[in-house]
Amino acid sequence: MKDDISISILDAKDKVTFLNSLVKAKENIQSLDVKTNIYKLNIHFDVMDLKFVPNVGVDLKYVEIAKKMGFFADVHLMVQKPVEDKFIDKAIEYGADNITIHYEIENFEESLKYLLKMKKKIYDKENKNFTIGVSLKPNTKIDVLKKYISKIDRILLMSVEPGKGGQKFIDKINDKIIFAKEKYKNTIIQIDGGINEKTICKPIREGIDSIVIGSYLSKSLNFTELYNKILILNCIHTIEKTPRRANMKLDTTTLQVVDGGYGENDILLGINVPDIRKCANVWYKYIGIECIRYFFSSPFHDYRRFAIFCIINNINILYKKVLKDNKDKNSLKQIKDYFKLFEDNIMYVNNWDLTDVAGPNIFAYILYMSNEKQKKKKLYKYLNSNNFWTKRIAIVSMLNFVKNDYLELPLEVCDYVLYDNFHLFQKATGWVLRELYKKEPKVIVEYLHDKNKIKKLPSILLSYACEKMTIMEKEKIRNDIDEV
Ligand code: DX5
Ligand code: ZN
Repeated sequence: MKDDISISILDAKDKVTFLNSLVKAKENIQSLDVKTNIYKLNIHFDVMDLKFVPNVGVDLKYVEIAKKMGFFADVHLMVQKPVEDKFIDKAIEYGADNITIHYEIENFEESLKYLLKMKKKIYDKENKNFTIGVSLKPNTKIDVLKKYISKIDRILLMSVEPGKGGQKFIDKINDKIIFAKEKYKNTIIQIDGGINEKTICKPIREGIDSIVIGSYLSKSLNFTELYNKILILNCIHTIEKTPRRANMKLDTTTLQVVDGGYGENDILLGINVPDIRKCANVWYKYIGIECIRYFFSSPFHDYRRFAIFCIINNINILYKKVLKDNKDKNSLKQIKDYFKLFEDNIMYVNNWDLTDVAGPNIFAYILYMSNEKQKKKKLYKYLNSNNFWTKRIAIVSMLNFVKNDYLELPLEVCDYVLYDNFHLFQKATGWVLRELYKKEPKVIVEYLHDKNKIKKLPSILLSYACEKMTIMEKEKIRNDIDEV
């Protein structure tokens, strides 16, 4: 059993309703032909006895109900006397697939022996199997399991004090995961307590095998929210499992993720662009606007890249559909929804790598699909934005227009920002002029020659704009030689 989410029904208001919605979520996600491994959804039963923990927990009868629905039943016995009080017998009777007892109970060794005996008996008699787990409270050391490890199938690391759902994740347990994975390579390592879309990241990176999640999922207001959360967790799984191949030193410098730099509050995970793009290519068709919104507004730079690539992929498909049939109302609505998602979250397109992908591949299409009046209005709204990234998006969006031989508007935009003294704009405008030069060399050389004569052009802009020019053309612009 690897890579599963074990959903605790402890805090579900109506357990059967919640189980039914999980059946639907499981069917939906299994029907996706997504090209990556997705989390298996198991059910986690928190059984309590008011002695080991001051709570009553979940009735074991739900194990039988969940089994009938086709779930793997992961039973977590937070009980002082699992043998004497018949919890193990009942769990087996109801068909538990895994039974986890706590190391901290009085007669741990006898309980483990009983579990082993019952496991053998059930196997010999009914050819049925269940796995055995041992749970450790946050402060119990991993080493205590050394002499038992060959007899147990999983270690359940509590990342909250056992006894109730909705508690805060104890961060130091991440070190325990690393240690447990290191020390007990053949044992399933499971984490339990306080897991949500934020606290799940590190355990995944550390190679956790099974993740218990309770209130983050069971407190969902409706099925859509529940299903979106399960999709988000699966995307995070794909992203966090992606190797860290980025050049962190270079990225930190070029994206200015340094004090006082424009990316100073950003967090880089170290996934390179091709790899995060691959993650987006895996998921973009399946996750929808709400999930993308989550990644778009993430403090992780890599997650925002993922979101932008998901939006781009969807717009690419939808734009072709509306070009083919402008009466295709559904595609028109969808592409407008993606445009709105982008514009509502434009503040997160806050570094040059994001703007330079989003400008030509998202904003350009927003302009293409606007009428002349709206186009100009929107374009100049962005060009006059006091958010310099938004302004850069407008400038670089013109690269798409040049590529498609719409040259007038790009030249108008370059003219509008030509003497701007901010290097981020000078570079972007230089790029657009360079691409315009490739299409209309004479026009652009003439244009730059005249402009440079009126007022000296910014050198950064000129260096990019003249990159593909002949020596003579450069001379003409720089040294005002009239004939070329
Ligand atoms: C706590 C239980 C956990 C808990 C998880 O004693 O063992 O399984 O229900 O719930 P959340 O995910 O809300 O912490
Ligand atoms: Zn539990």
